[in-house]
Formats: sequence, structure tokens, C-alpha cells
Amino acid sequence: MVREWDPRTASSAEIASLLDTLNAILAADLPQDPPWRENSLREYLTEVMPGERRISWVAQAEAAADGTAGAILGQVHVLLLGDIGVLEVLVHPDVRRTSLGRTLVLVAARRVYQEGFRSIGVEVVGDTPAVGFYESLGFTREYVETRSVLDLTAVDWTELTEMSSGIGAGYHLEFWPGGPPDVLIEAYARAKAEVRDVDDGELRPSSYDPQRLRDSLDCLHRRGMKPYIVLALHEQSGEVAGLTEVVVPAQHPTRADQYDTIVAQDHRGYGIDRAIKARMLLELRSAEPELTEVQTWNAQANEAMLKVNAELGYRPDREWCEYSVDVAELVHRLDAGR
Ligand SMILES: CC(C)(COP(=O)(O)OP(=O)(O)OC[C@H]1O[C@@H](n2cnc3c(N)ncnc32)[C@H](O)[C@@H]1OP(=O)(O)O)[C@@H](O)C(=O)NCCC(=O)NCCS
Repeated sequence: MVREWDPRTASSAEIASLLDTLNAILAADLPQDPPWRENSLREYLTEVMPGERRISWVAQAEAAADGTAGAILGQVHVLLLGDIGVLEVLVHPDVRRTSLGRTLVLVAARRVYQEGFRSIGVEVVGDTPAVGFYESLGFTREYVETRSVLDLTAVDWTELTEMSSGIGAGYHLEFWPGGPPDVLIEAYARAKAEVRDVDDGELRPSSYDPQRLRDSLDCLHRRGMKPYIVLALHEQSGEVAGLTEVVVPAQHPTRADQYDTIVAQDHRGYGIDRAIKARMLLELRSAEPELTEVQTWNAQANEAMLKVNAELGYRPDREWCEYSVDVAELVHRLDAGR
């Protein structure tokens, strides 16, 4: 049975059942990834940025004879933002290839169409069943990144300490757990805006104006995802010359997510990229003792950043792709196939 589902009011048993399904999927498709925990999972599924909406549906097994509720075997949600709906579909490995995935996509796509959106995007992990699934539904690949993972147990901390201090004169680094202080928000947003073009095509949120940046940080906190920031400040101008952001999610606190790393155009060539990332790892080592890995996503063309990541010990792991489809075409195709 597929029904619309609101994680805000869902029972704890449903949240726990969805978590079981998610972890069965990870074990099948991405066995090296840490299993998720229930910590802040409800908030993770509920909280969105101002102006965005997330609509969810679940597929639930029949109740048992004794009345025990059936397991949540599938879930779809769509995040409506700007002019695009971003889709995520999960089907338990035990019930795959029974058309459940296709049914869930159709339910969500119909709503996206009714809401007047024209396009649906989805993140697809390379070398998993999702690739064949979305291609069979007519989605096309827009953009490919490489996910890399750093094993913190293999890091040479002495070398990292040297890297963190190898920065040109006239700059200093600052560490801000929880996000940049309000006095630096405008300079921070300016640094992010400068490389906006580089991020084109990204589904992950990036914030360029100060208010949106504040909203984005608030949203992360509400979702149980703790941001850490290292900034390189240009002493003469007070400008943010470089920044790097890592988020430690309550749902998988042993593996952190590297978000943006940016070095402003005028400040390239002074070792800032290497130094801010090294400083971040040193700080995380004491701030987050449970942490054992950091994952990052990079465009394959971004050779400079890939080189620094390799020096730090990141190893390429998977392709991470963005696919998209025209909503009207998708709904017609799925309706015709029924
Ligand atoms: C992708 C996924 C949703 C597919 O669900 P599903 O219920 O098995 O899909 P369906 O049965 O509706 O399949 C529809 C069509 O997609 C294609 N397809 C599905 N799985 C496929 C696979 N493993 N290889 C090739 N094609 C595939 C087929 O054409 C299939 O039609 P067919 O079974 O008649 O041949 C499911 O595998 C899943 O949940 N994967 C994890 C997704 C994810 O986001 N994970 C994130 C963490 S890894």
C-alpha cells in the first residue's frame, strides 16, 4: 500500500522501520558506508529551508494477523525548490524488481506535475541498481562527480600539522564550530558567491546571500547536522580569502561530509586550500572523537582540488551523478506503461 506520509507526525515505529530499510539498502548497495542511526532522523526527513517543501510517500507491508503494523518497505520524497523537484526513492532489497520503485516515482511525479514544476532531478550513485532504474525511466545524466573518502585512522597527523601552517604571510586561519560568526557572514557569503559558476548543476544547496546563508545554517542545525567551518582571513582587507565546510550528521557521526571548499580568485597560489583542509581535520580530531572518515564530492575536471585531496589521503570511491527528466514526459511514459 502506497500512501502519503508525514515524517513530522509518523509513529516512532514507522521511523524505525524506515531506518531498517535504509540500512538494508546501504548494506546491499554501499556496504562500505556506515549504517545510519535514528538520532534526529525525523528532523532530517522533516526540516527544509524557507520556501522549500518536501512531500513524502511510503509503501507499507500488510499488517500481521495480530495487528502489528507492516514494515515500511519503500519510500519516496520530493523536495520542491526553485523550479525543480528533487526526487529520492528507496526500495528494500527484498522487494526489488517488483515495480515498486516505478510506482513510487509515478506517485511523486504526478504531484510534481500538478504543482506546476517542469523538471525532476535525482542523485544517482554509480555502480548501483539506481543507474539502470532511472535510465529505464528516461532520466538522462546531466553531471558526474567523484566521491572520495578519507580514512582518518591512516592520516599522518604530523604531516597534516605542517600542511596547516604552510600558508602565505598576511593570512590567518580561524576555526568556527557551528558556523561562521554573524560579523563574518557577509564576507563569507561574498566568497561563496564568487565561485557560483563552479557549482552550477549541483543539487546540494549552496548559499550566496547572507540571509540565505543564515537560513541554511539554521536548517542544518535543525536537521541534526553540525557544521564546522575553517576560514582563511586576508588580514589587510578583512576579506574571507578561503573557506572550507564540513558537516557531521547525527545520523552517521562516524563519517562526516565535506561541503564547499573555496579559495577566492585573488588569493589563489598561497597554499590556502591545503592549509584550511588540514586545519579542519586537526580540529575535527578533537571536536568529534567518534569520527573516522570524511567524504567529499568533486567535479572530475577540478584537478587542483583533486590533487590536494589526494595529498591529504582521500581515495576515489564512486561516481555520483545527477540525472534529470522532463516531468510531463515521465508521467506520460509511466502512465502508458501501466
Ligand atoms: C533503484 C530502486 C529504487 C529500484 O527499485 P525497484 O522497485 O527494484 O524498481 P522497479 O522494480 O520498479 O524497476 C523498474 C525498472 O527499472 C530497471 N531496473 C531496476 N533495477 C535494475 C537493475 N538492478 N539493473 C538494471 N535495471 C534495473 C528495470 O528496467 C526495471 O524494470 P523490469 O524489472 O521490468 O526489468 C532500488 O533499487 C533502490 O531503492 N535503490 C537504492 C536507491 C538509493 O537512492 N539509494 C541511496 C543509498 S545507496
